[in-house]
Amino acid sequence: MSEQNHATISAFVTGLPKAELHLHLEGSFEPELMFEISKRNRIDLPYENVEEIKAAYSFKNLQEFLDIYYAGASVLLKKQDFYDLAWAYLEKVASENVRHVEVFFDPQTHTHRGVPFDVVIEGILDALNDGKKKLGMSSYLIMSYLRHLDEGDAIKIFHEGIKYRDEIVGVGLDSSELGNPPSKFAEVFELSKEAGWKLCAHAGEEGPSEYIWEAIDLLKVDRIDHGNRCLEDEKLIAELSKREIGLTICPLSNDKLQVVKDLSEHPMRKLLAKGLKASAHSDDPAYFGGYMNANYTHLAAATEMTRNEIAMMAKHSFETSFLPVEEKAKYLDEIEGYVASNSYLEIMPPKTRQIFSL
Ligand code: ADE
Ligand code: ZN
Repeated sequence: MSEQNHATISAFVTGLPKAELHLHLEGSFEPELMFEISKRNRIDLPYENVEEIKAAYSFKNLQEFLDIYYAGASVLLKKQDFYDLAWAYLEKVASENVRHVEVFFDPQTHTHRGVPFDVVIEGILDALNDGKKKLGMSSYLIMSYLRHLDEGDAIKIFHEGIKYRDEIVGVGLDSSELGNPPSKFAEVFELSKEAGWKLCAHAGEEGPSEYIWEAIDLLKVDRIDHGNRCLEDEKLIAELSKREIGLTICPLSNDKLQVVKDLSEHPMRKLLAKGLKASAHSDDPAYFGGYMNANYTHLAAATEMTRNEIAMMAKHSFETSFLPVEEKAKYLDEIEGYVASNSYLEIMPPKTRQIFSL
């Protein structure tokens, strides 16, 4: 991939309206802000400086990452800390032509350390409201249950969250996947559905395709986070496609957590070719080396995506969002117009041009 081609893809991606549907606020905690907050809260981090923090970000699997992610989040104590975390994220993505975000927060990561639920959510909600007013950034909040804890713990958090029923759009399920199947959380997902919340679950990142079946059939989720391993099961692919269930795929995360051997082997093009509603997202950008545009651009360059495939991911991101239908239609029209006004050949990678004999 030439530098010029990379720059062309990057320009195309930047101009494309996008929705971020898979972002953990705690995973957007940049080392600089982490250091600043640790100092003002007088909590020691096991690092001397920002460079040492960054040097620790090398992971063989999901658990190695999660251990460092929870350690980083341990400096967050006060409402202002949660505000600063969420605000920094919103400012960052507003500059990337991300028009709408649906962000996860992990309340149990904080309540387990004695930080009250209200402190966490109110700091975040203030930032999201300021994002709407000052940045024009549309946003929804998703409360994620930690699957390495037991279901009773998730039910306690459900009862905390229900006080903010209208400020929360839905619930998610994250943390250590292997050994913690979706079926462990059937009751709390039923309660969450009865409360009128949308449902998402991480499944098929490291866990088997059976976990994706459980998430769609037992938990009745609207969206699967990751879902890469659906490719191992043709029946599942057909079902996900028929039900038009979104897959929020995270290319740089998959690369850093060794879910794929190399980004050039990422399955996104295969997922799209199978008719799945897959889209690209950033998961934990402070840890994995890039926000939305970096995820799109690196993936597109490494796997030689066509312009239509890139645009398809952006369309899917709005189609599978929790936005009202009129809003979705508005963004889809805008993407169509954007693609039509950009010439096709200049972005096509050399190999793809050869395939089309251009
Ligand atoms: N929490 C934050 N990022 C996660 C991921 N990629 N998988 C599971 N839990 C997470
Ligand atoms: Zn995630």
